[in-house]
Amino acid sequence: MSEHGSGDDGRLPYTAKVPYGGDYNPEQWPRDVWDDDHRLFTRAGVDTLTVGVFSWSVTQPAEDVHDFTVLDGILDRAAAEGRQVCLATPTAAVPPWLAKKYPEVNRTDFEGRRHRYGQRHNFCPSSPAYRRLSTALAARLAERYARHPALLAWHVNNEYGGSCYCDLCAEAFRDWLRARHGALDALNDAWCTTFWSHRFTDWDEIEPPSALTEHWRGPDHTAFQGVTLDYQRFMTDALLGCFTAEKDAIRVHDPDTPVTTNLMGVYRPVDYHRWAPHLDFASWDNYPPLDAPPTRPALAHDLMRGLKGGAPFWLMEQTPSTTACRDVNPLRRPGELRLATWQAVAHGADAALFFQLRASRGACEKYHGAVIGHAGRDDTRVFAEVAALGAELERLGALSLGARTPARTALLFDWDSWWALEISDGPSRLIRYPDVVHAYYRAAREAGADVDVVPVTADLTSYDVVLAPVLHLVEGDLATRLEAVARRGGTVLATFLTARCDAHDRAFLADVPGPLAPLMGIRVDEWDARPEDVVQPVRLGELTARARFVFEIVRLRGATPVAVYGADFYAGSPAVTRNRFGGGEGWYVATSLDQPGVDHVVRRVLARHALTGPYADHRDVETATRVTPDGAHLLFLLHHGAKPTAVAVHAAARDLLTGRRLDRGDTLVLAPLGVAVLVLQ
Ligand code: GLA
Ligand code: ZN
Repeated sequence: MSEHGSGDDGRLPYTAKVPYGGDYNPEQWPRDVWDDDHRLFTRAGVDTLTVGVFSWSVTQPAEDVHDFTVLDGILDRAAAEGRQVCLATPTAAVPPWLAKKYPEVNRTDFEGRRHRYGQRHNFCPSSPAYRRLSTALAARLAERYARHPALLAWHVNNEYGGSCYCDLCAEAFRDWLRARHGALDALNDAWCTTFWSHRFTDWDEIEPPSALTEHWRGPDHTAFQGVTLDYQRFMTDALLGCFTAEKDAIRVHDPDTPVTTNLMGVYRPVDYHRWAPHLDFASWDNYPPLDAPPTRPALAHDLMRGLKGGAPFWLMEQTPSTTACRDVNPLRRPGELRLATWQAVAHGADAALFFQLRASRGACEKYHGAVIGHAGRDDTRVFAEVAALGAELERLGALSLGARTPARTALLFDWDSWWALEISDGPSRLIRYPDVVHAYYRAAREAGADVDVVPVTADLTSYDVVLAPVLHLVEGDLATRLEAVARRGGTVLATFLTARCDAHDRAFLADVPGPLAPLMGIRVDEWDARPEDVVQPVRLGELTARARFVFEIVRLRGATPVAVYGADFYAGSPAVTRNRFGGGEGWYVATSLDQPGVDHVVRRVLARHALTGPYADHRDVETATRVTPDGAHLLFLLHHGAKPTAVAVHAAARDLLTGRRLDRGDTLVLAPLGVAVLVLQ
């Protein structure tokens, strides 16, 4: 396993049931309100409080002044009420005195502007003052609370992200490059610097790629992909360095309590696979884009589960009702919160936490949804839904804790490929990596397959099907490991713009698709990129799929065509191919098919391995399986449709939420947004 390793099991905090609760910032309101908070928490089944996020200026009002009175009060009260605490280090928002005294802590943006004090999530990761003060505070918190009876887990910082382009970061980047490339010759070679006369003769000549240097028209337009790629990797590591420094400081005083930080799912700036080995367990904040199909958050859940080799993760934040930061912030409709929470559990969440338990009084999140609103009522719709869900999770008890997903389908997710694809000049700016990945993921999920979303370094030996959409960069021994999947009878599916370049974004000096050409049995010499409104018909059996954006022109080198283009000078040439390889197959999809087209191809691939699920014809019913440490099979049925639907149960089971026993063939009616948790007998 390389530095991207994900094979290690996550170490989750010990709990007796799914922790339920969320962000709680009572330092923002008077003490007498705290009594109400706890009374309402008990009514809602809230047992876990995320505490201390953004409390730096309260806890350390000046460099040499610490005041733990408020935090002591919050933790002691939680313990007295029998609640557990996920304790955050408050280092995601620096206090004003710190930024004033050490201006280096403020980031320099992509345009080269040094920022002044304001907002949050904007410390320079290379700042020595930030590093010293953040780790010192983490250490003091650990020293004080390591043995506190309420302490359940550590939550370092909050939503690490973004980037900085200051001189300290430039210096740190050069050090990082020395460690990665060793010698300047190797760096010049990796970055192809002979192009446009860029050969570096001194490390100090190297600048961070920004609007002032290699970029134009923003972060996606770079003259040197190799430079920009390395900066993304460096920034990932620089932010990770802040996390591990705080974690190490905690470990000095607390060797045991698991440490995490809240990630953001499918988030481009930070390669979470590089972070995974350093997290004790993964956790993330789920705020799906408006009108996203349910497979969008599902993909993010599965990506997060893949960080720790399939170990469960925590849902650290979701809104109980509405966000605040968007232009328009719709409510979650009745039932949507319950469905989204069970979806998280179905995909491997072993905690269900909200942002936030009580609404802030002022500033930019005062209208953000909360379990308890400004009026402190327990007779609101949202409170009632939260309390009902709390009761259901109580009923679930410990059953799902530690349960694993028995997926036989893997989808390769690769930040390097994401970055390389979206910073590429040519062939098309219209290809968005997460959209293509989601289309393949969605097809497999809606066909009823459980899917592990894994890094390219993952062990692939347990999978029958490996999906590798738009995997632009192919590094290390990946091609050999994919061939091994096919050799033992599995199926590997790759798409257009896969296997084009090496780890440095240098084109392979070979036929496309480079190291995957033998497995795919094809050769691609040309590709036609067209505007969004140009549609190519691609016939797949009864279906005529619509293809757009990029049309690769495929020559067969052993593969057989599954579908051909229907128009233009390449009409009749293959758009989808399959190639026998060992006992298995390599499938290649040479264009961006619409969802029905992707569905068709993926269902055919899954069918080869009998991996389409028993409810695959119920498009609105999502299924997910988890196997408990005791070997019990849990089947989650999640009905995303607006009308009731009836399914014939495929095996004898007990519905955990209703207690009803079901025999094979019995009808189970799912209400709109309904959920069933079946324990298969
Ligand atoms: C993020 C942050 C929280 C809060 C929420 C609002 O997830 O971690 O502090 O700002 O968004 O949706
Ligand atoms: Zn910086």
